[in-house]
Amino acid sequence: MKILVIGSGAREHTLVWKLSKSPKVSEIYCAPGNAGIEKLATCVDIEADNIRELCSFAKENTIDLTVVGPEAPLVEGIVDLFNQNNLKIFGPNKKASQLEGSKIFAKDFMKKHDMPTAKYSVFNDEISALKALDDFQLPLVIKADGLAAGKGVVICEDRNTAVRTIQSMIKDKKFGSAGSNIVIEEYLEGIEISLLCFVNGKEVIPMESARDYKKVYDDDKGPNTGGMGCFSPNPILTDSLYKDINEKVLKRFISGLKADNIDFKGVIFIGLMITKRGPMVLEFNVRFGDPETEVVLPRLDSDLVDVLLKTIDGTLKPEDLKWSDKKSVCVILASGGYPVQYEKNKEIKGLDDVKDVIVFHGGTKLYDNKTLTNGGRVLAVTAIEDTIKEARGKVYQEIKNIYFEDMYLRKDIAKNI
Ligand code: AMP
Ligand code: GLY
Repeated sequence: MKILVIGSGAREHTLVWKLSKSPKVSEIYCAPGNAGIEKLATCVDIEADNIRELCSFAKENTIDLTVVGPEAPLVEGIVDLFNQNNLKIFGPNKKASQLEGSKIFAKDFMKKHDMPTAKYSVFNDEISALKALDDFQLPLVIKADGLAAGKGVVICEDRNTAVRTIQSMIKDKKFGSAGSNIVIEEYLEGIEISLLCFVNGKEVIPMESARDYKKVYDDDKGPNTGGMGCFSPNPILTDSLYKDINEKVLKRFISGLKADNIDFKGVIFIGLMITKRGPMVLEFNVRFGDPETEVVLPRLDSDLVDVLLKTIDGTLKPEDLKWSDKKSVCVILASGGYPVQYEKNKEIKGLDDVKDVIVFHGGTKLYDNKTLTNGGRVLAVTAIEDTIKEARGKVYQEIKNIYFEDMYLRKDIAKNI
C-alpha cells in the first residue's frame, strides 16, 4: 500500500515509523515532513493545511490511505474532500471535527449529553465578558473558541490577567476570528489524563493511557505548551476510575454522537481532569496527541495499518489492539524561549550517539547535510523499558549526548511515578 501522512511534527514521525513496520506498506509519503521523517518516507513539499493540493497529490500518486496528523486540515474538511474524491483517509469529517475546532461546540455537546465538565459561559463582546468575571472564582480559565495552535487557553490566576486576556482575544484579535467568541470556565484542580481512543462510528475503543506535561517549566510552572513530555501507561487510571470514565464520558460520548447525527471515525483524544468530584472532561481533540503518540504507539504491538483501516470501515474491535506490557517515557527537547519566542536554524549534534531510545523529530530540517532546528518542540526522545523508572533513567541519560544551542528540557518528566 502507498500511504500519505500529513504533518511535520514528532507525532507524524511516530506515525510514519509505526506504519513503516507494517508488511502491508510499500511506500510512505509525508507532507511536509521533517529531517527525521525523510529517513523513512518521501517528503512532499505541501503544507498540512493545503487540503486541495494534498487531494490532487493523493489522486495523482494513487495513494491507498492518507493519515492526518494535525487538527487544522481536519477542521478545514480534508476528510470530506478526500471522500468526495473516492480517496481513503483516516480522520473525522468536518462536522465531527468541530469537537476540536470550536470549544463552544465541544462544551455545548458535553453539557447536552450530560458529560461532567467545568461550568462555563460563552461571550462575544468584551463588556459582558468583563462583567461576568465576578461570577467566577479565581483562578479561572479563558479559552478562544477556534483553533489557536495550542495557545488559546489561558489560566488566569488574578483578575488583571483575566481582563487582559479578554481584551487581547476579543478587542485586539490576538487569535484573529478564532478568538471573537470565548469561553470563560471554572478552573478544575486535579491530575490530568490523556485518553486517546479509536472511534469506529459506533464504538469508542480506548488506547493505553498517557500523561502529558503541558507547562513549560518543572513542577508545572509557566505557560502552557503543546506538551513537554509524556509517559504511558498512566497509573492513575485504575480499573475503577476507568469504569467511572466509561459510564460518564465514553458511553455518553457515543450516544451523543448518535443523537446529534455526527459520524465520527478516527481518533478522539479526551483530555480529562481527575478531580475530587470525579473525572471531568477538559477538552476534545479529534486526532492523535503530541507527545502522547510518541509514548502510546511504540507500545502498540498490532499492525497500525490494520487498525486504521478497520476504524474507517467500522469493524475495529477492542481485541484488535494488542499492547506491550512495557512502559514508555518521552522527553521533549525544545528551543530555548518556546512557547513564546525562540530561534531556529541551530545545528543539532549527537543524534547518532544515542542508543536504546527512539529520537522522533519534531521541528527539524535538513540543510547542507546538517540537521537544523526548525520549530519550538525540536525532538521527542522516547525510551521503552520494563518500568517507568527505567525508561525515565534511559531517556535522561541518552539526552546528554544530544546538543543544540539554547536547548531546553523539563527535568521532571515521569519523576516519582
Ligand atoms: P486545551 O487547549 O483545551 O487542550 O487545554 C489545554 C490545557 O489547559 C489542558 O490540558 C489543561 O492543562 C488546561 N485546562 C484547560 N481547561 C482547564 C480547566 N477548566 N481547569 C484547569 N485547567 C484547564
Ligand atoms: N499533547 C496535547 C495535544 O496534542 O494537544
